[in-house]
Amino acid sequence: MTSQQRTHEVLSDIIDSVNAQLDKHGVTYDEYRAGLDWLIRLGHAGEWPLFADVFFEHTVEAVNATGPGSTIEGPYYVAGAPWLERPYVLPQRDDEAGDVLILSGTVLSAEGSPVPGAVLDLWQADADCLYSNVHDGPPAFNLRGRMTADGNGRFEVRTIVPPSYHLPRGGPVEELLNAAGWHDWRPGHLHFMVSAEGYESLTTQLYFEGDRYLESDIASAVKPELILSLRKHDDPAELSERGLSRPFYSTSHEFRLTPAG
Ligand code: BEZ
Ligand code: FE
Repeated sequence: MTSQQRTHEVLSDIIDSVNAQLDKHGVTYDEYRAGLDWLIRLGHAGEWPLFADVFFEHTVEAVNATGPGSTIEGPYYVAGAPWLERPYVLPQRDDEAGDVLILSGTVLSAEGSPVPGAVLDLWQADADCLYSNVHDGPPAFNLRGRMTADGNGRFEVRTIVPPSYHLPRGGPVEELLNAAGWHDWRPGHLHFMVSAEGYESLTTQLYFEGDRYLESDIASAVKPELILSLRKHDDPAELSERGLSRPFYSTSHEFRLTPAG
């Protein structure tokens, strides 16, 4: 199929689907014009990626997933995050808000053998739901970093437990959600891009048990295998061994990479 044929087929179906809904709901001229006005403002506000990733990326991700354990990238990945040195600590402010999280894990092949030296690119929002290098507030590359798994495919990194996350407020996306009576929340999450030579790169997110938005993620991107349980550590001896002055949480995860096709 040529690219023009493909464009013709996909576009015709999308246009037909939209027209069918306009017809089904008897959309008025006032509604049509309000919709166009909103689309123009969406573009002016630079919120097209946000809108598309909230409502559509999960479908594209599902169609293209090469194995289990992946989910959407979302609009806030930034290339070129700093390489971290062991022991890995995600760059953060001295008074970064949030509970300390020690995440450990392994990068494995689909058959379960370790992938030594796999690269993990990790990014997350701060406790105010702001992403560094995207939103005003956090310093450059705050809560973003790259690290490598060791010779056994293992890694450990210290960061903060991400609280439930709300989408940016005050723009056309928020206006749309309010108009429809929908909430603007996602469960708290850590984003990962995991790569290694000879494997498909894996884009995913990790979530945490008990988050109230696991069942109602506005971006429809939660999968059961990505929900981790947190263990609380408050033994003073363990805290001092880690050089920490407050309780911390730990959890672990196995990332599985599929061979490059
Ligand atoms: C996120 O993961 O941060 C995200 C995903 C989709 C839309 C907006 C944000
Ligand atoms: Fe995110």
